[in-house]
Amino acid sequence: MPALEGRTAFVTGGTGGIGSAICQRFAAEGAEVIAADLSDNGGAGEFRAFDVTDETIVRGTFEDLATKWNKLDILVNAAGIEIEKTIEETSLEEWNRIFAINVTGMFLTSKHALPLLRKSAGASIINFGSYDGYIADPGLAAYCATKGAVHALTRAMACDHGPEGIRVNAVCPGYVDTPMLQSFFQDSGNIDTLKKAVRDVHPTRTYGQPEDVANLVNWLASDEARYASGQLWILDGGLTAQVQQMRL
Ligand SMILES: NC(=O)c1ccc[n+]([C@@H]2O[C@H](COP(=O)([O-])OP(=O)(O)OC[C@H]3O[C@@H](n4cnc5c(N)ncnc54)[C@H](O)[C@@H]3O)[C@@H](O)[C@H]2O)c1
Repeated sequence: MPALEGRTAFVTGGTGGIGSAICQRFAAEGAEVIAADLSDNGGAGEFRAFDVTDETIVRGTFEDLATKWNKLDILVNAAGIEIEKTIEETSLEEWNRIFAINVTGMFLTSKHALPLLRKSAGASIINFGSYDGYIADPGLAAYCATKGAVHALTRAMACDHGPEGIRVNAVCPGYVDTPMLQSFFQDSGNIDTLKKAVRDVHPTRTYGQPEDVANLVNWLASDEARYASGQLWILDGGLTAQVQQMRL
């Protein structure tokens, strides 16, 4: 039997690079899936227009969902943006915007999903952190700060809601080939040189694909991961395992 037969799943950022791969995988594993995002991409799952920063929309969506589904088994908080700047270059407006989406959006979505998640026999929340919450990429100050906040929030949510039968984990990818990474490449000059440099810095000599991330998320959502909670799961081709050295 597919691992997620009979489960319901709600994925924010569900039409983004990683979110789409997760929706596709969940659907292939037998789950009923909602891809919640700002705009549709015609991918797997039922699309819902959703803005994680708007509490009225978030609350209304889960109230509406309660009339369609009698429980929610899986919540994936994958909506996110990146701002490629140092703190000096970052305006207060940009700082507030990235926190509103990457952190407050996760808080709001999780908060209003809880009543439905509590009705599941074994619910799983999967947040998107990043290896940038552990170590810093230069020129990504506000982004790094949001991911550090996501990691702390993940542990706190796991402590508070574990006793209610809700597991909470964060997936912390390294470089994954999505529109977010492509825009990082484009903003940073010579794309081919940069792509090679990024590959070469990994012990595995490759960056990740959205499907690699979906594999881990699928496991965390499934009953096989019933003892996994409160943890930050780094998936980065060994990037954070090594000390950087000059390659001569
Ligand atoms: N790609 C990477 O290398 C990488 C690495 C580490 C962590 N991550 C994290 O993984 C998650 C997914 O990233 P991705 O690479 O798929 O990026 P992506 O840009 O392809 O997808 C992000 C999605 O979030 C959606 N989104 C943005 N603001 C929103 C809002 N207010 N409400 C609802 N949806 C909104 C976008 O429309 C987009 O579809 C993000 O949290 C990102 O920080 C990505």
